[in-house]
Amino acid sequence: MDSNTDAQRMEKIVSLCKRRGFIFQSSEIYGGLNGVWDYGPLGVELKRNLKNYWWRVMVHERDDVVGMDGSILTQPAVVRASGHMEGFADPMVDCLLTGKRFRADQLEPQQGWVLNFIGAVDFDSFNSLVKEQNFPERSAIWSRVDLAPLLRQIFTNSSWHVDEKRRIGYCHLHDQFVERKEALRALIAERIFSASSLQPFSAMDIRGDRNSVTLSDARQVNPGIIVAQEFYRKRGIRSPVVILTNLQWTEHSTRYNPENGSLLTRPREFNLMFKTRTGPVEEFDQSVMAVSAVGATGPAAPIAPVTASAAESFAQTAGTSVIAEDTSRAATTEEASVAYLRPETAQSIFVQFKNILEVSRKKLPFGIAQIGKAFRNEINPRNFTFRSREFEQMELEYFCRPQRGMELLEYWKEERLKFYENIGISRDNLHVRNVPDEERAFYSKGTYDIEYDFPFGRQELEGVAYRTNYDLKQHQDQSKKSLEYFDEESKERIIPHVVEPSAGVDRTVLALICEAYAEDEAPDEKGHMETRTLLRFHPRMAPIKCAVFPLLKNKEPLVAKAKEIVNLLRPHMFVFYDEAGAIGRRYRRQDEIGTPFCVTVDFETLGEKNPALRETVTLRDRDSMQQERVAIRELVNILTSRLR
Ligand code: GAP
Repeated sequence: MDSNTDAQRMEKIVSLCKRRGFIFQSSEIYGGLNGVWDYGPLGVELKRNLKNYWWRVMVHERDDVVGMDGSILTQPAVVRASGHMEGFADPMVDCLLTGKRFRADQLEPQQGWVLNFIGAVDFDSFNSLVKEQNFPERSAIWSRVDLAPLLRQIFTNSSWHVDEKRRIGYCHLHDQFVERKEALRALIAERIFSASSLQPFSAMDIRGDRNSVTLSDARQVNPGIIVAQEFYRKRGIRSPVVILTNLQWTEHSTRYNPENGSLLTRPREFNLMFKTRTGPVEEFDQSVMAVSAVGATGPAAPIAPVTASAAESFAQTAGTSVIAEDTSRAATTEEASVAYLRPETAQSIFVQFKNILEVSRKKLPFGIAQIGKAFRNEINPRNFTFRSREFEQMELEYFCRPQRGMELLEYWKEERLKFYENIGISRDNLHVRNVPDEERAFYSKGTYDIEYDFPFGRQELEGVAYRTNYDLKQHQDQSKKSLEYFDEESKERIIPHVVEPSAGVDRTVLALICEAYAEDEAPDEKGHMETRTLLRFHPRMAPIKCAVFPLLKNKEPLVAKAKEIVNLLRPHMFVFYDEAGAIGRRYRRQDEIGTPFCVTVDFETLGEKNPALRETVTLRDRDSMQQERVAIRELVNILTSRLR
């Protein structure tokens, strides 16, 4: 069946992930935490299978790679040296109406009429002035000789619209904005409006018809005006009449929120690292105290920065009392306590390079591998788990002599492509992008992105980068500790270069699920064809390898035999026992979670019908739905050979 649009397909995948326990929104019962996900019972198995296979091929099956597991909390000096403190930032803009944040460089250019406003005043004051202008002599305000010229500045040659029911409106000044703004300012100063704002604002009517623009007609008011009313309402004018100066047709603009037309802030650099503190800092901040002995004389008076409670006990034992805050000490301690959640696993590999080199006694080329969490405060987490704020990476730093960098870049690109094929991702859905000079990090001599065709578009799964010796050099310069390698061939000390295949665990899990998701037709219990949803995971990746069923749950010998088979298989693979419901339904449940094999114990197994079939079971294949009869004693061999 191929009737799904990609968006529908993605929706079905997300729904299946939740329904069957692969992936849940984090903190869901409290409304969720944006960009953060939890893996359920099946998700965690899938993830582990992926990580274990990566570790197997990248570490265990090689002589030239060792592993490590670094800490997540990172010293500021590390991220300063790596460039993350200065350079790891995205340009960010905020919607002035909703506060929603966008990456400035990812905004689609818009076109439409831009409406410029100089401010807003409250409806009741404005509406009274409108009504009184025809009878100035009866109006306390229009009759004032100092105010009447200012009022005429605003009201002559302007047009306005007031909605008495909703108590909002707009006033369009048409021309002479500068003089009229001054007049408005003077009227505001005279307090003739009970609420007002002179904060400029603009909004784009993103429906955009170049040849005509309507501010209001019998049916509706221009959306730009509605956005402006909301903007001033949020700034304290409960019933605003917005003051519009002019309109202009604008094209290719990224200054407006594509969702509502509101003006955005100017781009600001937004560092993606999460900063945290180590030690009992909060208490410390509020209560770092200096304690000095009351009445003690001379230089021996004790001074000690301590927390409030420690200060008290110190004061008691020393017969002293707390007398002063030592803010300078607090500041120094605060700085020393700052730490960052690592934005990539790579840096701990570089920082531990010398230690690992010494203990492993490896010769170039050799690699250090790591799998672990990384954190980035992404501005727009999106596409399910694809762009998250907390995620896992699988990274290898493969150190080499400079002469071999480009060759090893090619080698690792090919190795990594093979890896994805070996976990069941079709080569047709994988693409290699040679990252052009202008997009590459300045220190990289070559980078490939391995991309996958997700239902939401072609996106990066992994980067394979030749990073030269930039990182080791930076850490050597900043730490003043040698990170050199003594090259016995050339008898020289060198700072090795590095090629880095860096993959995302969560992105690969998502690619595995997207790749595996399928719908086909299968007969139901009565032989009618129905839609079957299945996950065609490679057996290597499948969360559950084999499900074992007794044909009937109330036949003790069938149940006992099925449990015996579970115990037989369990040391070799993750097995699931299920006795609930009709056998067809049990198969469907396993198909939907991607279990490649199901074993059913039936009356033949007990030898009741045909003694030749005693101690045999049916082995069903998820994808073909074919069943074969196999001997129980062969099961372990058959299954393990198909799972490898
Ligand atoms: N050490 C190099 C490095 O971190 P990167 O391209 O920024 O390079 C490598 O990240 C991989 O980590 C990406 O290809 C992706 O698979 C994964 N990744 C990066 N940011 C991510 C995010 N916000 N959510 C999920 N995975 C992410």
